[in-house]
Amino acid sequence: MGHWAVKIHQASIDELEELQQISKTTFTETFSAHNSEENMRNYLRDNLSLEKLGEEIKNPESYFYFAEIKDEIIGYLKLNMGAAQNELKENICLEIERIYVLKEYHGLKIGQLLFEKAISIAKSMEMQYIWLGVWEKNERAIAFYTKNEFKVVGHHLFKLGDDIQTDYLMKLIL
Ligand SMILES: CC(C)(COP(=O)(O)OP(=O)(O)OC[C@H]1O[C@@H](n2cnc3c(N)ncnc32)[C@H](O)[C@@H]1OP(=O)(O)O)[C@@H](O)C(=O)NCCC(=O)NCCS
Repeated sequence: MGHWAVKIHQASIDELEELQQISKTTFTETFSAHNSEENMRNYLRDNLSLEKLGEEIKNPESYFYFAEIKDEIIGYLKLNMGAAQNELKENICLEIERIYVLKEYHGLKIGQLLFEKAISIAKSMEMQYIWLGVWEKNERAIAFYTKNEFKVVGHHLFKLGDDIQTDYLMKLIL
């Protein structure tokens, strides 16, 4: 990291617009090359609206964290526990629903830092495992999770606009 200081803090409802901004930018950077413009537009409108993100950030079982360099938000993490999880919904596990870093900052271990934040939270809550869903074609993210010792344990379906895609379910026992 050289002399850069990356800070991680929990995002609050006062930072809803910043959350929307980083969510839209990173989602677009990650998925627009593989998906139609219309499906991308609909996903951003339906899933990353201020209303939707506002509900998510107010959910006491969801936690958002920002990674920042100086005053710029360059990545974020979304964790779900209990009933906020997309599947499993047990109290012994935690879901990493989103972990995203701006493209220009990839490969600098900022994803790793966010991931370690998730691990430390899961451990402090005495969770038995962490799980996540990742698009089967997202090789970079799969390599990242595999490096961090996640194992594929199944799959589920994810809807991006009218396109039904397969996500691997990956799990890390703590
Ligand atoms: C996945 C992500 C969070 C990782 O963050 P990061 O800060 O780049 O992570 P790190 O620098 O710690 O690790 C990069 C790792 O990605 C993998 N990687 C890097 N470049 C890669 C490439 N071109 N192809 C495949 N894997 C690659 C390697 O495993 C690499 O580890 P290494 O540096 O030890 O070899 C980040 O790449 C990202 O935001 N991607 C887009 C969003 C996304 O797909 N999120 C996951 C959705 S489920």
